[in-house]
Amino acid sequence: MPRGINPSENPFRYGALALDDAFADREAELRELVADVRNGQDVVIFAPRRYGKSSLIWRAAARLHRAKVLVAAVDLMTTPSKQKLAEKLAGAIYENIASPLERARERALAPFRGLRIQPVVNVDPIDGSLTFSFGLGRRPADIDATLERLLELPGELGAGRGRRVALVLDEFQEVVEIDPGLPKLMRAVFQAQPEVAHVYLGSKRHVMERIFNDENEPFWRSAKPIELGRIEARPFARFIAKRFADTGRAVDDATVAELLERTGGHPYATQELAYFLWEETPTGGTAGPEELERALAAVLRAEHAHFTLLWERSAKAQRLLLAALAREQPGRPFSADYRNEHGLPSAATMQKAARALVQREVLAADRGAHVIAEPFLAEWIRANIDRIA
Ligand SMILES: Nc1ncnc2c1ncn2[C@@H]1O[C@H](COP(=O)(O)OP(=O)(O)OP(=O)(O)O)[C@@H](O)[C@H]1O
Ligand SMILES: [Mg+2]
Repeated sequence: MPRGINPSENPFRYGALALDDAFADREAELRELVADVRNGQDVVIFAPRRYGKSSLIWRAAARLHRAKVLVAAVDLMTTPSKQKLAEKLAGAIYENIASPLERARERALAPFRGLRIQPVVNVDPIDGSLTFSFGLGRRPADIDATLERLLELPGELGAGRGRRVALVLDEFQEVVEIDPGLPKLMRAVFQAQPEVAHVYLGSKRHVMERIFNDENEPFWRSAKPIELGRIEARPFARFIAKRFADTGRAVDDATVAELLERTGGHPYATQELAYFLWEETPTGGTAGPEELERALAAVLRAEHAHFTLLWERSAKAQRLLLAALAREQPGRPFSADYRNEHGLPSAATMQKAARALVQREVLAADRGAHVIAEPFLAEWIRANIDRIA
């Protein structure tokens, strides 16, 4: 049994980052990402929610660390203002890019000497870690100047240490929410530092596409796109079987195949269903079709509140479309055949409904063919809505 594995503890995880043993495959994407960063190439990773963007970059960062690349990361979901962004950036620079010498506690401010606003250093009384704050009521121009300098710093500090630097900006679609002028300010700085690899991760496809694919936007074609898809069946199947085996259980091949068929290799959904399948399997037992059915029912119970809310937030035409797709997908809701078959309203109404659901990433569309992208939602509708209707 591999070290660190407890046979009585469920080895599947969904929600948190997939680290170490919890991380499956993605070898090709990892190799590409690591090589791009080592070349100083800017990269944008496109993927729907919960596909494993953050997990992938953490895995890549561990490899880059071994290759002596300095990696600083900021999650823009945690920085609702430019000031907060400056504070988190200062922390990430201090933690990951400043040299050990500059990191001596009494010299914590050394990397930030040239800033218009000097940060205040706060020491966490419990673990001794440092955070930085810039105080309240600053003039916007001073915040901008400070942020600009901070964005320049990774490149300068890396050059001083003779090391390649990567700056990772997770949940990058939030950049436009923080401040409409922020993309321009950022891009102006990044453009002047070709040696720094910037890695942008984001969901909300329509926002990310506007940022990177619209000619009028500052980030237009500024980074190499990498599409993160679902995880391939073969390596994912091996991963699931091994995690069962490592915890004193087994799962038959056909059941793993069926599980992956149900989730389509969606990383989060697969871990979730595997989690419940493992729960249904006693020590020394083998998971089969009956355990899988019970696991699926358990997933639907666990997600009931989430799906109920999603349903309540959907307008009537959206509900009709979802119910139709739960019966038959992929579906072409703009075609007369499909609409007649499923009793759907006009094509114009369907277009509006489909667009809204695609924007919410509940649906995915490919040239008019629509599928439900939200894992297990089709099963939930069949079990809870269609039965009542
Ligand atoms: N390589 C992987 N192997 C196994 N499971 C994975 C992998 N990547 C992601 N997962 C599963 O997907 C879940 C979500 O991963 P992660 O948080 O990295 O995705 P994300 O795309 O960053 O999501 P969000 O859009 O919420 O930020 C994890 O909790 C884990 O269950
Ligand atoms: Mg993430």
